[in-house]
Amino acid sequence: MKIAVVLGTRPEIIKMSPIIRECERLGLDYFILHSGQHYSYEMDQVFFEQLELPDAKYNLDVGSGSHAEQTGRMLIGIEKVLLKEEPDVVLVEGDTNTVLAGALAAVKLGIQVGHVEAGLRSYDRRMPEEINRVLADHCSDILFAPTEKSKQILLGEGIGEENVFVTGNTVVDAVFQNLEISKGRCEILDDLGISDHDYFLVTIHRQENVDYEERLRNIAQGLERVQKEFGVDLIYPIHPRTRKSLDYFGIKLNGVRLVEPLDYLSFLYLESKARLVLTDSGGVQEETCIMKVPCVTLRDNTERPETLEVGSNVLAGTNPQEIVDKTKLMLDNHHSWENPFGDGKAGGKIVQVLRDKFV
Ligand code: UD1
Ligand code: UDP
Repeated sequence: MKIAVVLGTRPEIIKMSPIIRECERLGLDYFILHSGQHYSYEMDQVFFEQLELPDAKYNLDVGSGSHAEQTGRMLIGIEKVLLKEEPDVVLVEGDTNTVLAGALAAVKLGIQVGHVEAGLRSYDRRMPEEINRVLADHCSDILFAPTEKSKQILLGEGIGEENVFVTGNTVVDAVFQNLEISKGRCEILDDLGISDHDYFLVTIHRQENVDYEERLRNIAQGLERVQKEFGVDLIYPIHPRTRKSLDYFGIKLNGVRLVEPLDYLSFLYLESKARLVLTDSGGVQEETCIMKVPCVTLRDNTERPETLEVGSNVLAGTNPQEIVDKTKLMLDNHHSWENPFGDGKAGGKIVQVLRDKFV
């Protein structure tokens, strides 16, 4: 069995890492194909170094661009590699343009596609991620659903039950494997001059929030009001997309302390010790749920409804007063929910499914 692991962005590197480690441990025949969608050191290479992952065998260096330009360049590059390597299965993870390109290139060559984190739906077609995940699921032969809910969504869309495997989400594996190690990065709090549970952590980067001036202004106002109301530091490791948009629209984030995007261990430590997190990230909604940190999601919907059901997360949209109100609500709530995303053994289960099928 030969596996092609296709990845291209920060969350894919993090969430594929448990699978890559398992392939290494078992000495399987696999290789990493990096699209180059993320390329800045702090969005890419730092994660390979910190998670001790082998270098990608191929890096397509596609970089940034419009959706069609970026996805098109990936399709062309991925096809060439797959023709040369002839893997039995292509693994993709999540909902980025890299995922769509990897799944589409493979299925058109008659290569089996395995989609990790299948069956998530926001039902919001304005999000590029929703288009990518729906298309990737329907190109896939093997669908690794993180929860029973995501499995039911796939079955409801006509995907055969024999193709769907509930494994949990590899984000749990990544948290379990790295949370203890992240304590080695505890000096991040001193560096920032903050103490345990005395700050809020912010991450905002989704296209539907940061590419639209009104929504971004509302978010800026909401964060400023949160800082005034609760009197804590707001620490925001800012995504390059958001920095570009703030500059473009001339919006200032008052009351928010901007830092560069952080390496995984520093971020995980900061997240685990935050009193609360305000985010629009998918991975951060999950990690806060796993680490029992209350989360306020600055979106109108989520493809992670499990977090709302257990009470770790609440949707605030982008209305400034709503952001303040939902922050207060989450601070007052209990923090004793169960993690719905699995037992931290998803990577092993995914690789076992592949071995049963191909070896
Ligand atoms: C992408 C994914 C998004 C995911 C996010 C993870 C798609 C459609 N979007 O969004 O689902 O949540 O990654 O972080 O696939 N840039 C840099 N350095 C980099 C990469 C990007 O400076 O290494 C800047 C560029 O100005 C670029 C912008 O960020 O134009 C956006 O990058 P892009 O890859 O298009 O999407 P993300 O916003 O990163
Ligand atoms: N993350 C990180 N450094 C940061 C911000 C986030 O290492 O400065 C990690 C975080 O722990 C999570 C992942 O990046 O595992 C989430 O990625 P992102 O929010 O970019 O994408 P999404 O999950 O929304 O697709």
